[in-house]
Amino acid sequence: MALEDKTGPHLPSHVAIIMDGNGRWARKRLLPREAGHYAGMGAVRETVRAACDIGLQNLTLFAFSSENWKRPKTEVGALMGLFRAYFRSDMDELVDRNIRMRIIGHRGRVANDIQQMIEESEKRTINNTGMNLTFAFDYGGQEEIVAATRELARAAADGRLDPETITPELFASRLFTSALPSPDLVIRTSGEHRLSNFLLWQSAYAELLFLDTLWPDFDRAALESALAQFGGRERRFGALDSEAVA
Ligand code: FPP
Repeated sequence: MALEDKTGPHLPSHVAIIMDGNGRWARKRLLPREAGHYAGMGAVRETVRAACDIGLQNLTLFAFSSENWKRPKTEVGALMGLFRAYFRSDMDELVDRNIRMRIIGHRGRVANDIQQMIEESEKRTINNTGMNLTFAFDYGGQEEIVAATRELARAAADGRLDPETITPELFASRLFTSALPSPDLVIRTSGEHRLSNFLLWQSAYAELLFLDTLWPDFDRAALESALAQFGGRERRFGALDSEAVA
């Protein structure tokens, strides 16, 4: 079956995923939570490969939230370790696949060597023209909105900006995601029905898809099925549907 038959004709231009359920996946197997995160890294790898093969233009993955610092030190350490491991093991493949990497988030709070890896990966892929792969890492949507607001307020207070000229487009240009289109599909795995501070501004018109699959079990078939479900949805952006207009 051709890919288009499986995913439907309307491929979203930007898919963003809240990767949830690593801990429950591990608990079901009587394994430590860290084992779930390790398996989750495998799902990241498979999803990136599949998205790239399918021809998605933008994939954003929520890898670590600004609230995740509240987890036990050992778990935070394990997640940081996995992030390092992923960059070391997968960067060459990402470069070969012509992927452009971006990391959105706070940056200043993570270890220096991770900050360096982030900068290097972005520099190394800056001229790549394939899929935009963005990791939200130490990311929080409210923090992002507050930072953009603060920047605009400072410019207005200094007389460099007329507050009347602030539009949604200007505001969006101050967010971490300014170079990316808004996500048109946000997927959350593990059966939870929440956005958890992920791309709050950017998801205003996104289709939301909540799956029971635990993140480590998410794979190419799950992505294709999600894309097919997206293809079947009607998006109106606040307007009427075509039948009502006719
Ligand atoms: C949520 O599962 C997942 C995370 C907090 C982190 C996501 C991390 C990965 C997918 C692994 C590594 C990623 C990269 C980019 C190498 P949870 O722990 O909240 O699961 P639970 O709700 O079942 O406890």
